[in-house]
Amino acid sequence: MLTGLDNVQIFDGLQALSRAAADRVLSIANHNLDASRRFNIALSGGSTPERLYRLLADTSLRELTDWSRWHIFFGDERCVPSDHAQSNYCMAREALLDHVPIPPSQIHPMVIDPAQPERDAADYETLIRREVSTENGTPVFDLVLLGLGADGHTASLFPDTDILRVRTRLVAPVRVERLDSERISFTYPLLEHARHILFLAAGEAKAAVLADLQNGAEHSHYPVQALAPQGTVEWYLDRAAASGLA
Ligand code: 6PG
Repeated sequence: MLTGLDNVQIFDGLQALSRAAADRVLSIANHNLDASRRFNIALSGGSTPERLYRLLADTSLRELTDWSRWHIFFGDERCVPSDHAQSNYCMAREALLDHVPIPPSQIHPMVIDPAQPERDAADYETLIRREVSTENGTPVFDLVLLGLGADGHTASLFPDTDILRVRTRLVAPVRVERLDSERISFTYPLLEHARHILFLAAGEAKAAVLADLQNGAEHSHYPVQALAPQGTVEWYLDRAAASGLA
């Protein structure tokens, strides 16, 4: 269970948050690349991380890491075509991946056929088990970026969805009725084994859920509360998202 909020940094706005997050991501990446031959990162979707991705692609930062050893995965995806405006992959390509020299074979979109979420989820799990080194039988990502919804979802672990009960798979399809959206997402076990999780949350809409998380209010509808990370967790918030914190 995520009880309380530790390792919280609060920034004036999304630009400052994103710039600090870019520095942090590069620091984690380069620390991993000093110790091993590759860096396995799972990107988050939604709107918050886009500014971070654009900053990582900016000339001032682009030269600060060996992109040829980055391996890009996605923590969740909408079951839409890869060029669709709602695609997390499309956003990451346009903001970052088309602008840095990561070998195409090291960029792994989650959705191949939007009409086949079950097959794509199973294939992605197979890919992750092949590509990412495991500890105690579970692949361990070096870094997982996560966002936070106003309803307490993270990745595509949404309230009142079946994926919240999935503990025997690493990746699963999920139907989000409220959004009329088919998605694929990392499940709790895979997220929990990450060596490092960096949450990014900005905007007033996140203030109430963050305040509840900080004071440990047991909110049955917050999927993020059920996360039991085994690695380190950091929260990068803007002032609006942090406005309810003590
Ligand atoms: C997605 C994300 C999702 C997102 C939150 C926050 O595919 O939508 O993975 O978990 O991080 O919904 O979204 P915003 O950054 O747009 O507020």
